[in-house]
Amino acid sequence: MQIQFVDATTAPTPRVVVRPVNQDALPTDLELVLAEAAKLSRFTGKAGQIFEGFVQRGGPVVRVVLAGIGSPSADDRRAAIEKAGAGVVAKYLTAGEPALAFDLSASGLSAQETAALLLGARLRGWRHDAYRTRLKDDQKKTLQTITVMGAAPGSGGEWLREAAVAEGVEFARELVTEPANVIYPESFVERCSRRLAGTGVQIRVLDDAEMRALGMGALLGVAQGSVRPARILAMEWRGGKEGERPMAFVGKGVTFDTGGISIKPAAGMEDMKWDMGGAAAVAGAMLAIAGRKANANVVGVCGLVENMPDGNAQRPGDVVTSMSGQTIEVINTDAEGRLVLCDALTWVQREYHPAAIVDLATLTGAMIVSLGNEYAGLFANDDKLAEGLIAAGTGSGDRLWRFPLGPAYDKLIDSPIADMKNVGPRFGGSITAAQFLQRFIDQGTPWSHLDIAGMVWADKPGATWDKGATGYGVRLLDRYVRDNLEG
Ligand code: BES
Ligand code: MN
Ligand code: ZN
Repeated sequence: MQIQFVDATTAPTPRVVVRPVNQDALPTDLELVLAEAAKLSRFTGKAGQIFEGFVQRGGPVVRVVLAGIGSPSADDRRAAIEKAGAGVVAKYLTAGEPALAFDLSASGLSAQETAALLLGARLRGWRHDAYRTRLKDDQKKTLQTITVMGAAPGSGGEWLREAAVAEGVEFARELVTEPANVIYPESFVERCSRRLAGTGVQIRVLDDAEMRALGMGALLGVAQGSVRPARILAMEWRGGKEGERPMAFVGKGVTFDTGGISIKPAAGMEDMKWDMGGAAAVAGAMLAIAGRKANANVVGVCGLVENMPDGNAQRPGDVVTSMSGQTIEVINTDAEGRLVLCDALTWVQREYHPAAIVDLATLTGAMIVSLGNEYAGLFANDDKLAEGLIAAGTGSGDRLWRFPLGPAYDKLIDSPIADMKNVGPRFGGSITAAQFLQRFIDQGTPWSHLDIAGMVWADKPGATWDKGATGYGVRLLDRYVRDNLEG
């Protein structure tokens, strides 16, 4: 979707005019018929309300859309504004109108709030129609352009930053939406290389031979049942001080998770195409961070494998040696995410000596049992990092809820034959998974693990997304970088 700022005095009369309205503050310049109709429809400007009326202005009939943004003093003001922008676009996406004009002249919206409105609009307008060849006309996306009139000074600059974030969210959604016959480790790398070309992000890729030489037996053990070779993808953005240790983001990129020999049931297995949502969030965040030229050093690493059950697949009971040297008894080949991440985590520490690490992974079904689809779970060995992430989650809408770590949980993954096993008992499954990862974090390195299993994919439309890929994590990471690393 195109978003452009125009001069209200010279723009042609638009056919659809959208006006954000504060609670109980109908614009005073509305035609009487619209003002009365809005009142009769009980439109008050409450956040999320939408009123549509028609009026003749000169010759043409104009659609006037009032979009409620609630009270200016509401705690969730920014979110309400975003949601209003999204709500309008949801309503008009397939309505036959090619363009909407947002008239902000009497809205009182600041430049930042304007950018929030547009971000909501843009994100809600994203769709993946590449494989729909028989859409009926009334199902096709018709909305192409939003023109913005009367915006506060500075809105254009604010929007430029948010547009970079939108690019990142949309890229993550694209990666998540693509099926596993299209996005697999090699093609994930290719898609990222193409998308990040020219942004200043440096790409590095490890192939099997290099991973073998580094001793990544845990990651390669997962990959060995698939004909598609594994990859590690590293994306480096150096926008900060020279020589300053980077922040590291690490994503689980299981491009399809059958469970391996511990195979999953057939029903719902198609969902496991989005078992690379952590890696997609990392790639999207790198695009956002580079796109807005963030003043920080950040490296994004994706551990990319396909978990399949062929004749060469690893078996339950196999013992693998990770890059750290620690051995792992693979009790359940479906607990593969931690096996991929542990080698990616070791590698990022040896290679980059990061100042802190955040990993994102669709790691456990147990996390969805705990938190549903409202919060991702956060685990951390460092309170400051945890608090910064939780604040970034609240600020961006990608919310986080903290879970405990501790020796009593850690003990549950001791193995009688190796240094650890890859699963604990059924209860506390998200926590033992996090304990497993913590065994690969060097003393003194601040680290946080985000289990995003419930957040990557939505079965129903949400605030700024349709059903399907949400792009969760991109805004969170971008916000964390903005608020904590850019001074
Ligand atoms: N990718 C799954 C977790 C998952 C399940 C994410 C459903 C999103 C939706 C992960 O690899 C997995 O299979 N985890 C197992 C772990 C178990 C074997 C200890 C699980 O959660 O059942
Ligand atoms: Mn699995
Ligand atoms: Zn998985």
